[in-house]
Amino acid sequence: MKSLRKAIWLLSLGLFSFSLASAQSPEYYKNRRGEILSRLINAAALIPSAWEGELESFRQSNNFFYLTGIEQPDLLLLLAPSARSPETLFLPARNLEEGSMSEAWTGAKLGPGKGAEEQTGIAKTAAKNTFDFTFANLAGGLDKLYFDYTPGPLEGPVSAGEVFLRALRDKYPHLQILPFSRLVDSLRTVKDSSEIRTLQQAVDITGASLRETIPQVRPGMFEYEVEALIEYGFARRGSQRPGFPSIVGSGPNTTVLHYDKNRRKIGAGELVLMDVGAEFDYYTADITRTVPADGRFTDRQREIYQLVLEAQKAGFKAVRPGVTLKEVHQAAKNVIDSAGYGQYFIHYTSHFLGMDVHDVGSREIPLSPGMIITVEPGIYLPAESLGVRLEDDVLVTADGCRVMSASIPKEVREIEALMQSK
Ligand code: GLY
Ligand code: MN
Ligand code: MN
Repeated sequence: MKSLRKAIWLLSLGLFSFSLASAQSPEYYKNRRGEILSRLINAAALIPSAWEGELESFRQSNNFFYLTGIEQPDLLLLLAPSARSPETLFLPARNLEEGSMSEAWTGAKLGPGKGAEEQTGIAKTAAKNTFDFTFANLAGGLDKLYFDYTPGPLEGPVSAGEVFLRALRDKYPHLQILPFSRLVDSLRTVKDSSEIRTLQQAVDITGASLRETIPQVRPGMFEYEVEALIEYGFARRGSQRPGFPSIVGSGPNTTVLHYDKNRRKIGAGELVLMDVGAEFDYYTADITRTVPADGRFTDRQREIYQLVLEAQKAGFKAVRPGVTLKEVHQAAKNVIDSAGYGQYFIHYTSHFLGMDVHDVGSREIPLSPGMIITVEPGIYLPAESLGVRLEDDVLVTADGCRVMSASIPKEVREIEALMQSK
């Protein structure tokens, strides 16, 4: 009986084939790997996937997803122009036994073999336990290895990536091991048309959810209720997860930059700041709106709000190819400085946006078309329990920029009208 059940189960695994998690074709990712391969001279690149713990929800690492579109843990991608196969994907053997971490418990997985090569478009796949042997044969001819790992905390448990890196250093002392970010960041910073479409979807989902939630905000609600409404709106529209912990702060919490406890009861006459972003197919939005809990701004709240809005508009105006984030920041900051509130604008105006909410890219590089940044000035007055931040997502175009989140209400009259619409 048991073996019959097992036979039926094995058969059923064969019936549904693994597919790439993304809407893109295997060629799309092959071209990206080709870009990396063309940058490797006497060098190889090694990109591990994310790991998966039991009862943890899995999200692929951004660089691994960027190069493969595969959503599976415990993989290794080796790119090496000098190898017989310039690209090899190492996968653990499939676990078809019964018990925890078997496919019966965690779902069907790709294993090494022809099927995986056809489905992923990666020329060669191999069993994970052959990696050491393959790399040992290759390493003698290399000067450099670009390795993708996220450093763990300086103190505390050593990450699996760190252990792997130390072993590579011990075994191959002649190899210069460099961060993979040096090869991939410049590619990730400039988005192609399909990435822009995907990020626009994340922005539109975020906007629709905010538009739906804002009229429901009232004194007496808890911040976490607002958070739940927003995140339910994301999920209903196909977002896989929020791109970062949602910030919903009321009253004094509006002045705490990355407040994400969201446990307070919203009081009458207070502002409510919502800094949220839906993730869609690995790209995240990052939008902030600040609204009056009662539906109407007080004079003082309106004064500060208008100033932040004016600073943000000055920031938008500064965005065009050739300028840096520093100049965008200066443009927004000048407005707040000249109104005498400079010391209450306690953070930077912009960061790059993409697969990570604080995406790769430095403040020093000149902007170019296809880059996506946030513009998010704020004024925080703890003594008055009054904080206002406005944040929108902006695509750099050939002659300026396009505000991708422009249709989400923001003018004082638009916010007040929206809040009275229910
Ligand atoms: N939500 C984090 C940020 O705006 O940078
Ligand atoms: Mn934000
Ligand atoms: Mn931001």
